[in-house]
Amino acid sequence: MVGANHPAAVAADWLTSAWDQNAGLYVLSPAAAVVEEVAGQWLVELFGLPPGTSCGFTTGATMANFTALAAARHAVLRSAGWDVEETGLFGAPPVNVVVGDEAHVTIFASLQMLGLGRGRVQRVAADEQGRMRADALRDTLASLDGPTIVCAQSGNVNTGAFDPLPEIATAARDRGAWVHVDGAFGLWAAASPNRRHLLAGLEQADSWTTDAHKWLNVPYDSGLVFVRDAAAHRTAMTLGAAYYVETAGGERDSYNWVPESSRRARGFAIYAALRAMGRTGVAGLIDRCCDLARRMADRLAAGSGVEILNDVVLNQVLVRFSPPGAADPAAGGDPAAADGLTRDVVARVQADGTCWLGGTTWHGLAAMRVSVSGWQTTEADIDMSAAAILRCAEAATQAAVAPETATRTASPR
Ligand SMILES: Cc1ncc(COP(=O)(O)O)c(C=O)c1O
Repeated sequence: MVGANHPAAVAADWLTSAWDQNAGLYVLSPAAAVVEEVAGQWLVELFGLPPGTSCGFTTGATMANFTALAAARHAVLRSAGWDVEETGLFGAPPVNVVVGDEAHVTIFASLQMLGLGRGRVQRVAADEQGRMRADALRDTLASLDGPTIVCAQSGNVNTGAFDPLPEIATAARDRGAWVHVDGAFGLWAAASPNRRHLLAGLEQADSWTTDAHKWLNVPYDSGLVFVRDAAAHRTAMTLGAAYYVETAGGERDSYNWVPESSRRARGFAIYAALRAMGRTGVAGLIDRCCDLARRMADRLAAGSGVEILNDVVLNQVLVRFSPPGAADPAAGGDPAAADGLTRDVVARVQADGTCWLGGTTWHGLAAMRVSVSGWQTTEADIDMSAAAILRCAEAATQAAVAPETATRTASPR
């Protein structure tokens, strides 16, 4: 999921560079501070998060996850009578961290940076689409004592699947645990009335992550973190250094909500994208991409030896290619041959240049991962891309089953 660039956001980004404002402190750039405050509240409303939720403009979802989990670490340890910002983790009550088996790698990176450890997490089994299993979560939580953080996911990076938030929130609430939702791209589905149901229960969580440089189509680097307990967010991030001149009047100093001090005024591009598209425009962008992903899946599924591995609920399509007779291991097929073919198709599509997509491994199987995320992408683009993918698949299949003939007849493109 690599996003795209909306022209209004690009223009605002150019201005951001030209103005060269340091957005860390209100006194250095009142406009940047106010724009972040306004856009942050628009986003809280757009995603349907609880009133009073705080927002930080980070470099990406990685640092948004880091910030949210720092706030979570603060809050669960504060409840246990421990001041982690002042005292650190030495001697602190142990913090349980529970993650779904399909949590994104950046959750583990954040835990590693926060001293919570990437390897000491409790992993909860996921279902065949990558959703955390609520029954397994309940069992895990029943076995734990003390401060606890649960990391849920809205939008699996491979399948686009959503963890069952209402069940997760209920199980966590019963245990007094903090719930964080990593919605790097999936959170945007909440902006569409047609897809909001995928995130039912979203507002019951405690913190949320998303990326603006993905589905809002603003330039890199641009992520967002939201925290219900604004005080926990601020306490976990504040610099509070004596030599910084904070504004006395309650204006918002952006550095109190993110890990950086001096920082780019990245709120302008987000503000511009939201102003240009409006609430209905953002919803339209999300719906269009999801519909186009469905169209791509339908076009590809018509090809021979093509299997769509996921339920296409969002903008992600997972595709696997098998040479004749290799698709079904139960019927004597050869998964290694299908792995090889799928990787070859991905390489051919990347070389072909009609569209770009990546490869992945899903439940041990090689797969092609299609993400539709650009505001300019049309049905014609999808049809042209699907045709190119099927052309590459045909050439790769020929090369796999009859290498001699294939080199003579099929172009490597
Ligand atoms: C679910 C999820 N979380 C976190 C990230 C990390 O985002 P970023 O690369 O913006 O830091 C991604 C990126 O694809 C993602 O899909």
